[in-house]
Amino acid sequence: MRQSDAPRTYRVKSFGCQMNVYDGERMAELLAEKGLSAAPEGEEADLVVLNTCHIREKAAEKVYSDIGRLVKAGGDKPPMIAVAGCVAQAEGEEIMARAPAVGMVVGPQAYHRLPQMIDEAVAGRRATDTEMPADAKFAALPARRKVGPSAFLTVQEGCDKFCTYCVVPYTRGAEISRPFADLLAEAERLVAGGAREITLLGQNVNAWSGEDDRGRAVGLDGLIRRLAEITDLARIRYTTSHPNDMSDGLIAAHGEVDKLMPYLHLPVQSGSDRVLKAMNRSHTADGYLRLLDRFRAARPDIALSGDFIVGFPGETEAEFEETLRLVDAVRYAQAFSFKYSPRPGTPAATMEGQVPREVMDDRLQRLQAALNRDQLGFNQASVGRSCDVLVERRGRHPGQWLGKSPWLQSVFFDEAAGGAAAIGDLVRVELAEAGPNSVRGRVEQPAIA
Ligand code: 5AD
Ligand code: SF4
Repeated sequence: MRQSDAPRTYRVKSFGCQMNVYDGERMAELLAEKGLSAAPEGEEADLVVLNTCHIREKAAEKVYSDIGRLVKAGGDKPPMIAVAGCVAQAEGEEIMARAPAVGMVVGPQAYHRLPQMIDEAVAGRRATDTEMPADAKFAALPARRKVGPSAFLTVQEGCDKFCTYCVVPYTRGAEISRPFADLLAEAERLVAGGAREITLLGQNVNAWSGEDDRGRAVGLDGLIRRLAEITDLARIRYTTSHPNDMSDGLIAAHGEVDKLMPYLHLPVQSGSDRVLKAMNRSHTADGYLRLLDRFRAARPDIALSGDFIVGFPGETEAEFEETLRLVDAVRYAQAFSFKYSPRPGTPAATMEGQVPREVMDDRLQRLQAALNRDQLGFNQASVGRSCDVLVERRGRHPGQWLGKSPWLQSVFFDEAAGGAAAIGDLVRVELAEAGPNSVRGRVEQPAIA
């Protein structure tokens, strides 16, 4: 690699989950602290960070084609390219060997070293860092700056569950919880920077544990209760949870902490106990349903969300129909469904009975039809409800705004006469008209926040 000029502008492109979005924001903050500025929309950046996702197929191919596109667009002055995220972790060496245009490869637990790696790259030395301990990363990151009304806060990383289909335990490492005091400080800075809502993130966020400011051992509910004391913080959410890490305290918090929103994302993956066992999920379909009942008892209006995989190796038509029955029983407000994708190095990738693509396509279509039906049904059932909408951005028409209901529905509304709204406001609306992906609201009173 040749020596090059120090980059002055950057662009971070994040793919995949919300934890990657959080990491992407933190990388941008690191780069800003180093004196780089965000490349204006539509302009080539001197440094491009591809913050990649490895969860499903074709992730690596996508990275190579993105690299090719960047090199081509740069002409005789190609950008400095950094590959970050889970593909970097899983396939770093291969990327370095195959793509000479890549100046650095940095894993999800090592990106705090990005600034030094840029200096190396400027000097003509390519560098790879896929070290694992995550605590070092958080300690080395700069303080948070100005943020939007809804902010992410990673509280837990990694996974010890080893579901047989999943790469996360290999790419993100073992479960770790960030310390309570650090999280409280980061949350306070986010709120001071403009956040009204914080979503606590973790691959197994409900496995978070720590010691509170009085030295008591606490779980996620303890952290949530303490964050709820931050005056200007209006809303708290958390994602993603695992059924086996649910505590009585967290369930109870849904009935007791007003700022904790009535929404639960709790992946189940399949409605068949045989498939769940083969996935190493360590819970049954019935156990999952009983858990949801307890959430509903604590917070009757709670909106439920989940993740599903169709076509796991060996899944029969009858087993898939058990998933449809579970969906019918739950009536999800929202859900995410995927075709099984064999991931290199995971146990399921070499299991017998890989399901043909056409069968997977058919099952995914049927499952999504059921989930879409329920999402629309949930939105329709919410018509007539009054709620606060946290305003996130302007809508397409003048005077129109877009935000989120407590149940995480996208709500759009027209500003009331004499009551101009602004980003970050909580506006009281009546939910008036339901669509499959959004709800129209009618302002009940001018902005209150
Ligand atoms: N194939 C398909 N979907 C997967 N997920 C995780 N690994 C795979 C895989 N190999 C889905 C799960 C998980 C979500 C984040 O992605 O549903 O909950
Ligand atoms: Fe993708 Fe999973 Fe990594 Fe998130 S943790 S970036 S979803 S592979």
